Amino acid sequence: MTDHAIDLAALPRDFAWGTATSAYQIEGAVEEDGRAPSIWDTFSRTPGTIDGGDTGDTACDHYHRWREDIALMRGLGADAYRFSVAWPRVVPGGDGPVNPKGLDFYDRLVDGLLAAGITPCVTLYHWDLPQALQDRGGWPERATAEHFASYAGLVAERLGDRVTRWTTLNEPLCSAWIGHLEGRMAPGLTDLTAAVRASYHLLLGHGLATRAIRAAAPGAEIGIVNNLSTIEPAGFGEADRAAAVRMDGHVNRWWLDPVHGRGFPADMREVYGVDLPERPGDCAAIAAPLDWTGLNYYFPQTVTADPAGPAPYARQIARPGVPRTGMGWEIDASGIETLLMRLTEEYGARRILVTENGSSYPDTVGPGGAVHDPARAHYLTAHLAACARAARRGAPLAGYYAWSLLDNFEWAYGYDKRFGLVHVDYATQRRTVKTSGRRYAEVIAAHRALR
Ligand code: FCB
Repeated sequence: MTDHAIDLAALPRDFAWGTATSAYQIEGAVEEDGRAPSIWDTFSRTPGTIDGGDTGDTACDHYHRWREDIALMRGLGADAYRFSVAWPRVVPGGDGPVNPKGLDFYDRLVDGLLAAGITPCVTLYHWDLPQALQDRGGWPERATAEHFASYAGLVAERLGDRVTRWTTLNEPLCSAWIGHLEGRMAPGLTDLTAAVRASYHLLLGHGLATRAIRAAAPGAEIGIVNNLSTIEPAGFGEADRAAAVRMDGHVNRWWLDPVHGRGFPADMREVYGVDLPERPGDCAAIAAPLDWTGLNYYFPQTVTADPAGPAPYARQIARPGVPRTGMGWEIDASGIETLLMRLTEEYGARRILVTENGSSYPDTVGPGGAVHDPARAHYLTAHLAACARAARRGAPLAGYYAWSLLDNFEWAYGYDKRFGLVHVDYATQRRTVKTSGRRYAEVIAAHRALR
């Protein structure tokens, strides 16, 4: 078997073949039907934060074009779809009154998906905190975790009769570290104390929300989604080795250990030197049993010590000669296999979903409107092959959601970076399935033929 042949027989018969998106990145309609601003509306409207001055105001106009987008999923043969609910659409003030029109939108979407034979996976928080809660302190405040749980419970009450698969948080690392420490994402802070407090309350929010979803929808299957990286030291010396341990703590263990009942890693508490806002009972709440673990994987990291930098006093270096995507991210498909095995062996995961994986390249639209993206198709195939290798080795891998269904608003990079299996012409909102999308459809069909 070549490196890129996918051992499809290693994947379970009921493997979920999906695509993923998130609300702010595709919906647009930011002022429609009672939606209030989120921290991403505020951040994207702050000059200098987003490449090209882009915002999510219109994005892929999915709020109006969701039927067409469901038809695209069907065309790929996908039977699963991971999307996020925008908290500021559903509870515009963050807490307090519900906006029925906001909930109605997701209700229609879920019905449309089910009618098309596509199983929804609902993410409750993909970074779009209601601005009203940010104005009251945001994630560094404990109340935000409590409001998150109430919001999660009411969404589960409305959709839980049809939605089984729930994600509490998407990549809390990005909310806490990139949003509060590095300042490259909303809310744009560079404050270690705020970042560590935010990380704590995000995980507490996950635990409290898990409880609230279970109370509202007893059959729910709940998971959390983390973006993990493999971490290697740049050099052989002790300083780089220790830097790699710290980066592993920062990126991987800080997020995995507490939800698996191991508490927050002691070494990282020391590295951050910030008191956690712990209260009795929190530990158990954060470690609420999970039905599955979500892995988002994009790139490996090679790190060196950086004593002058921000915590964790380690930074990623660019290895010369390594192939990269259009994001500049190094490509290493074996990383996804390594991480799937780590979740299986070290954390005892009983069920794993790859909830995101994909690549950005500067696509060009060819004559006749075709979008030929062999590099993305290759990335997809290589990573699926690595997933199948992990499954063969015993990882309980139950599904794969390609990032992303559509080109969309790529956060601080705006619309310039395209991750879609489907190309979006933002001027006309025309969607065109790329070569990579067709490749994905072939893989799905080939796996189905084995059933
Ligand atoms: C992940 C995010 C997702 C998308 C991809 C490229 O970190 O969850 O929204 O931006 O990266």
